[in-house]
Amino acid sequence: MEARTSVIQSRLEQVKQIICVASGKGGVGKSMVASNLALSLSQKGLKVGLLDLDLYGPSTHVILGVQPDSFPDEHHGIIPPVVHGINFMSVVYFTEDKPGAFRGDDISNIILELLAITQWGSLDYLIVDLPPGIGDEILDVIHLLPQSKYIVVTIPSKVALRAVEKLLRILKELDVPLLGVIENMSFKKDSMVTAFCETEGAPYLGRLGFDESLEDAIGDPKKLQTSLFAEDMDVVVAKLG
Ligand SMILES: Nc1ncnc2c1ncn2[C@@H]1O[C@H](COP(=O)(O)OP(=O)(O)OP(=O)(O)O)[C@@H](O)[C@H]1O
Ligand SMILES: [Mg+2]
Repeated sequence: MEARTSVIQSRLEQVKQIICVASGKGGVGKSMVASNLALSLSQKGLKVGLLDLDLYGPSTHVILGVQPDSFPDEHHGIIPPVVHGINFMSVVYFTEDKPGAFRGDDISNIILELLAITQWGSLDYLIVDLPPGIGDEILDVIHLLPQSKYIVVTIPSKVALRAVEKLLRILKELDVPLLGVIENMSFKKDSMVTAFCETEGAPYLGRLGFDESLEDAIGDPKKLQTSLFAEDMDVVVAKLG
């Protein structure tokens, strides 16, 4: 094993499960799902970490109402601040003050560094929010966190499913464990997503309805936890066992 990979693995020694939230498509609700999944598991009394690896558009800090104005404490590594019971870490602490564009090597180095210095301690679950698409970040994470299982988020749209199909094929090719597909912003039962999952041989984890009041809950975890979105998420979380 490469030295840096083994450092990362030693940081994760006491993490029981890693769940990555991905989609081939942008804007389908990955960050909302990842944040709510973390809140929901934490509410059940489990020890949960949330890691935001979206370099261009980190958003879980916005969803959870975290001000990334001070760098987390350092002691033999970085200690994730605890936000509403969740151990929270985000690329935003590394990228906030830097202008937009990162090249492939910068992306890989930031991800490597973040994984190599974060001290998660003991966790039941580490939830990872991934950026849209099938770029360097997801390929790095597949390589660096080989024990991860994946949740793929989509919306009921042919356009989104075309991109999701590509991601599912890549996960399959690389032998990456798939927990299943979540249908977000769902507006009717038995949509094209259930049929799509059957064709792809992917578990269908359930549907999250369009929640008109979700925008009001952004930045307020208490409101998020009582939202219709969270209610729908609980049904999905129950299926994860
Ligand atoms: N079920 C829903 N009902 C209403 N609004 C939703 C729902 N799911 C997500 N949203 C809203 O859609 C927007 C996009 O969600 P989110 O940022 O989670 O998507 P994403 O897939 O992470 O996007 P990106 O690809 O940019 O990372 C947000 O404003 C979010 O509040
Ligand atoms: Mg996102």
